[in-house]
Amino acid sequence: EDHLTASLPLKGKHVMITAGPTYEAIDPVRFIGNHSSGKMGYEIARVAANLGAQVTLISGPTHLQISEDHINLIKVVSAQNMYDAAMANFEAADVVIAAAAVADYKPESVADQKIKKAEETLTIRLTKNQDILRSLGERKQHQKLIGFALETNNELENAKAKLKKKNLDFVVLNSLQDKGAGFQSETNKVSFVFQDEVKSFGLKPKSEVAKDILNEIISLFDE
Ligand code: CTP
Ligand code: CA
Repeated sequence: EDHLTASLPLKGKHVMITAGPTYEAIDPVRFIGNHSSGKMGYEIARVAANLGAQVTLISGPTHLQISEDHINLIKVVSAQNMYDAAMANFEAADVVIAAAAVADYKPESVADQKIKKAEETLTIRLTKNQDILRSLGERKQHQKLIGFALETNNELENAKAKLKKKNLDFVVLNSLQDKGAGFQSETNKVSFVFQDEVKSFGLKPKSEVAKDILNEIISLFDE
């Protein structure tokens, strides 16, 4: 069943997306970050808007631009900023797609001044960030929740554990098996992981992966 041929199947739906990396400050000029480009989340935002959705895109720092109507872009820096924005917009959302590569840890304290070079070694103590998606899962009512996972081992087992722990509808598992799948590339190879079912797709452009994801979400509403 191809839901994309139906006209504007997401009309009237509010889709909230998290995208990109988060930056965790060490001092006024330094941070801990990661190589997430944000492309996957931005492609999902574009496709969702084209399917008629009202989109809230909560984005960590990226060079990407987006100008579609029906996309409310909220720029954030840290995981805490992203958490606050996600919480503030959750009630109005019908669908949440968490494509962001949220930093798991942040420096326990942020130095007021630039840290001076001194000893041979420097230790920065880190503390856990809040799990945004898990917090949304705990507050879930009518919303459909979709998470991402990238695993290097026990892929399915780990993805299913995230599905359950975060109270998700399905997990988009990024496969590391193929070259050209992952953080900086234009393509991805994914599987949709449900508790009792796995749907696998071939390597394709992120814009096409975005369509597959939204097509799957639309069929959740039909159930
Ligand atoms: N996620 C989130 N908030 C965090 C960490 C992760 O919302 N603080 C979301 C991601 O956007 C993704 C999903 O949770 O949709 C899984 O992220 P991932 O990093 O794979 O899993 P973690 O739960 O952080 O576990 P680990 O990194 O140890 O595998
Ligand atoms: Ca993580």
